[in-house]
Parts: sequence; structure tokens; C-alpha cells
Amino acid sequence: MHEQPDERISRRKIEHLEICLNDQVDSSYKALDDMVLIHDALPEIDKDDITIDKKFLSHDFKAPIIVNSITGGHPETEIVNKNIARAIELLGLGMSVGSQRSAIKDPSMERTFKIARKEAPTAFISSNIGVQQLKELTKTDIEQIIDMIDADAIFVHLNFLQESIQSEGNKNAEGCLDEIEKLCDMVNIPVIVKETGAGISRETCERLKDTKISAIDVEGSGGTSFSAVEYYRAKKEGNTILADLGKDFWNWGIPTPISLLECHDIINIPIIGGGGVRNGIDVAKVIALGADIAAIARPVVKPALKSDKEVLALLERYIEGLKITMFLTACRRLDELREIPIVITGYLNEYLTLRGIDVRKLAQRKRSRYGH
Ligand SMILES: Cc1cc2nc3c(=O)[nH]c(=O)nc-3n(C[C@H](O)[C@H](O)[C@H](O)COP(=O)(O)O)c2cc1C
Repeated sequence: MHEQPDERISRRKIEHLEICLNDQVDSSYKALDDMVLIHDALPEIDKDDITIDKKFLSHDFKAPIIVNSITGGHPETEIVNKNIARAIELLGLGMSVGSQRSAIKDPSMERTFKIARKEAPTAFISSNIGVQQLKELTKTDIEQIIDMIDADAIFVHLNFLQESIQSEGNKNAEGCLDEIEKLCDMVNIPVIVKETGAGISRETCERLKDTKISAIDVEGSGGTSFSAVEYYRAKKEGNTILADLGKDFWNWGIPTPISLLECHDIINIPIIGGGGVRNGIDVAKVIALGADIAAIARPVVKPALKSDKEVLALLERYIEGLKITMFLTACRRLDELREIPIVITGYLNEYLTLRGIDVRKLAQRKRSRYGH
């Protein structure tokens, strides 16, 4: 019997979780590792005085961290959103549910998303929809996905790399910018445009700048590669051509630090730094490069399939790691991270230099309150 398209979308959710749980899906180059925050052996601050709370889109975060869009849309995904929601509510962080397309097509899937708001009544929670879907969705559909979780914002994801390595992928990217613009006029919550692991270039950001989006989430390469994820799916389905293509494009994309520096240069709206954020040091690094908050996705999959306590423990490790990094770089507040010197080495240095970003200036940044 042939599978219905809706059943296929739903099954794909589980396949993505399983692959991200069991297989190696990270890009083989993590540019955040080519970046060093200089250690201060005499920080002259009390670690207990460090504050990391952050206002993001009028919402108070107790730490600058959001658990990024992962899942929903299959009965077995409810537990994941539930465990993430419980942990972020307790810690005062934010989260986004995964693409809500499936719940529009099949209302029985709504509960897999609704659980997030049920378990996190006060936290920042974002809706999520693919840019290609915007063409087919009505205003009522959009209102439905927002109301479903009483969303504080809506992420529009750009994932043309992934779509290109999927047999069922939607490869028509025409008219997307117009659709983003229409969405901004249609809803009364912030619209955030996000990539999904291939980053946003200066040139793309220039075009997004002319829309009414409220924030941008760069989601660069260096973490989860959706070409890798689709490689495993294609291999399992016996589609060798797509599997080979998945391998070819495994490391495609703009590394997270580059995307951040390029976007930060030209856009004056909040920026989320994600793609390969794997500990509290990485959180500090993306903030030092201009992000307002950091986003984490795949590391949360494993604990979220187990329990809320496991998610809590992971996020607490990120938070403590951020505080230690701030202590060792003498930063009492998050905005001071933007002033500390950063040494950029290797491929990242070469890439940034060729794109006209002054890496020497970054290495020689001077703290205005340094040594206070
Ligand atoms: C299992 C899984 C499912 C995902 N599903 C979505 C999705 O539905 N919508 C979306 O915008 N991004 C989705 N993403 C992408 C993440 O939000 C994030 O942009 C990307 O994984 C890079 O972050 P990371 O390196 O921390 O994983 C998914 C990621 C994972 C690991």
C-alpha cells in the first residue's frame, strides 16, 4: 500500500530524531573551534556578580539561550516537546517547536505541539513553518499554528539544502522573499527568519533587511548538517544517487561565526547565533560575535527523549559554562563579551579576511572597562 504524503511527513519526523540520536551528522569543520577567547588570569571580578539575563523581543530570558526548533507532528514527538518545555520553563529560557505544517494537515497532531505551551505557560515559545509552505497556507492556517501554542514569535525556516537532498523535497524557491514580507504584514507577533545549518550570508541578509522581520537566526554550518541527515535517509531507502549527493554537500554552508559577523555588520535587529553551539564556551563565542542569544538543537535530542531532568542538566551545563567563560574573560555582563579580544585562526581567519572582515581588529579589541 502506498503511503499518503501526510503520513510520510509524519514518519520523517521520527526518522530525523533517530538519525540525529544515533548517527554522526555534524559538519566535519566547526569554525567556532578556530576562535579563541583570550584568558584573563587576573579577572578582578567576583563570579557571583555575573549576570546573564537578557531581554529578547520584549521577553525576559534568565540566560541567553533558546532550544531551537526540533520536532512535533508525530505521536512519539510529544514527549520531546514536553521535556524541553518543562526544562526551559524552570530555567527561564525559550524554545521553538519544530515545523507545524503537519498539524495543519492533520489536527490530531496538534497535541504534539500544544504540550509545549501547557508545560511552559510563561516561557518564550516560537512557532515554526517552512518558507515554501507560506505560499500554500491561508491566514487562518497561520493563525491556527500561532494559537496552537500561544506563540510569542514565529520562525520561518529556510532549508533549501535539505530539500535538495530529499526525493520529496520542494525545490521551488521563487517568491519566498515576498511570502516573508506578506507574513510580516499578516501576523502581530515577531517574525524571525532562520536557516537550518547552512547559514545566512551578508548578501542574503541585505535582502532580508528590507523586510519587516524582527530578528534573524543565522544557523550556520559547524553543527548538524541536514545534508548528512538526508544522506542517512537516502541510504536507508536505497537511493544511492541522493545518498552520494548527501555526502557531497555534507559540509556545505556558511560557518556560524562568519554568518554572524556578516549579518551583525549590516542588520540592526536581534540576532540568534546557532549551528554547532555545543557548550557554554560556544554560547559566549556567538555572543562575542554579535548574537543576542544562542540557539541549541541536536544536543537536546538525546536528553529530551529521556526526561525533563536530563534536559535541565544539559542546559544547566551550558549556563554554568557561559558563566565560567565570562569569569575567565572578566565579563560581568553579556554586552561586555562584545568588547573582549578574539583571536581567529586557520581557515576561519582566511575566509573572514577574504570577505573583508578585519580579524586583526577583533584580536586587538580593547575593553572599555578592562581591569576595573
Ligand atoms: C532532529 C532535528 C529536527 C529539526 N527540525 C527542524 C524544524 O522542523 N524546523 C526548523 O526550523 N529547524 C529544524 N531543525 C534545525 C535546528 O533548529 C537547527 O537550526 C540546526 O539543527 C542547527 O543547530 P545544531 O547544530 O545545534 O543542531 C531540526 C534539527 C534537528 C536536530
